[in-house]
Amino acid sequence: MAYYTKLGLLPQKRHVQFRRPDGVLYSEELFGTEGFTGPTSTMYHIHPPTQVAGWKHLYTTKQEYLEQNVMRMRHVMTGGQKSPPKGDAVTGRVVLFGNSDCEMAVCNPAEQMQYHFKNAQGDECIFIHFGTGVCHTMMGTLKFGPKDYIIIPKGVIYKLTWDKRDASKLGANEPGIENTPFGRFLLIETANGSHIGPPRRYVAKETSQFLEHAPYCERDLRLPETPLTFDEKGDFPVRIKARDMVHEYIYHYHPLDVVGWDGCYYPYIFNIDDFSPITGKLHMPPPIHQTFEAHNFVICSFCPRMLDYHPQSIKVPYNHSNLDSDEVLYYVEGNFGSRKGIEVGSLTAHPQGIPHGPHPGTVEASLTATHTAELAVMCDTFRPLFPTKAAIDLDDSKYPASWQGEHFPGLASGKVHLNGATVPAASAAAFPKEVHPVNIIKADINSTVIPAPGINGSGEANSATNGSAKPGTSTANVWAP
Ligand SMILES: [Fe+2]
Repeated sequence: MAYYTKLGLLPQKRHVQFRRPDGVLYSEELFGTEGFTGPTSTMYHIHPPTQVAGWKHLYTTKQEYLEQNVMRMRHVMTGGQKSPPKGDAVTGRVVLFGNSDCEMAVCNPAEQMQYHFKNAQGDECIFIHFGTGVCHTMMGTLKFGPKDYIIIPKGVIYKLTWDKRDASKLGANEPGIENTPFGRFLLIETANGSHIGPPRRYVAKETSQFLEHAPYCERDLRLPETPLTFDEKGDFPVRIKARDMVHEYIYHYHPLDVVGWDGCYYPYIFNIDDFSPITGKLHMPPPIHQTFEAHNFVICSFCPRMLDYHPQSIKVPYNHSNLDSDEVLYYVEGNFGSRKGIEVGSLTAHPQGIPHGPHPGTVEASLTATHTAELAVMCDTFRPLFPTKAAIDLDDSKYPASWQGEHFPGLASGKVHLNGATVPAASAAAFPKEVHPVNIIKADINSTVIPAPGINGSGEANSATNGSAKPGTSTANVWAP
């Protein structure tokens, strides 16, 4: 994060004597990025943070990517029984896609973390899908719940502790406790050492303040709170990820021993329900969903929203080639009926190189919709993504062929759907050129209501083009781009 905040006890100035109640100096630590020219924070420890006792190598986190010479759409299903509980909130992470810039994993932990963890290799964006708990960090405590993005910058020591799930309080679409004892999350992690933050275009260059056109702002962020300081002695393991390995270091005091800190580098939470979607008269491009960015990838939130309100608008995304990105979508909740076979916990991966767009039959079916209730998280990477064996094991091999159906079924049946009405294909073919979309757009720009000929070419204005269409509240299964 780029704006200043503070928590706990601080001396009046940096780098001056600041003493514990017993007269011993607190240990100041500057926690800095980009050679101390980027965001930094300054912490005051009860014990010197350098005082580690012993270390050992535990395991490698190096991923093996498969099918690097295969370019195709992918659908990986991780919901329900497909991802059984495993490990804890760190060892249970199952990486599905990645490259040299980021890794994407899902996690359904079977047990609580019995140690603290530091990712010294990259920033983490943990999207909590199900479950609640607390994330104790060296910079304070973050209570988390469903649909929270927890942003944990590189180097921050933390421990996720889940609440027990209560079978009597589970929602209709929540996984059962028998296969999800604590919760589930999606993890997007930087592999190139870059930092995850809000899109730069939403933040003032001089003050780092969120600008007025941003879909969220400072008030939507939840920053670390107390309890902050744990003054305990003993043997505390801290597992540190770096160099694609995890080592265990031992501290003889609690690693969360900071009494105060200030600066612009700290963990925080943003809940996806606090994202205010930017909507438009005509279809808005994917960047309006952007929530975070790092070097060579972005994270977007596709939230329930009003759909495009031009009377002739097409509500589902146009076919598109995102020539510089691979796109991965994680489906959180809503009805994904327009995407065949998609379910909660699905991930789809659409590689650069081939266009993608609406599934067969979804364009006409969406024309009268006014809202979408789908919720999804997208990660676009600017370099090709590769699957792991875990992704291939969960692969829906039929997905790439799911666009092969008839996109406009009326053509086969001799009928087509136009402006909310089904008409014989022959009539549609005779649709007068005066209502070519270009003419409609021109008329709209000039604020002129044109008496567009009706769908039967009789010269009667139809409801969609004269603006008299009844306001509806129907929802569309509009999938995110
Ligand atoms: Fe797309």
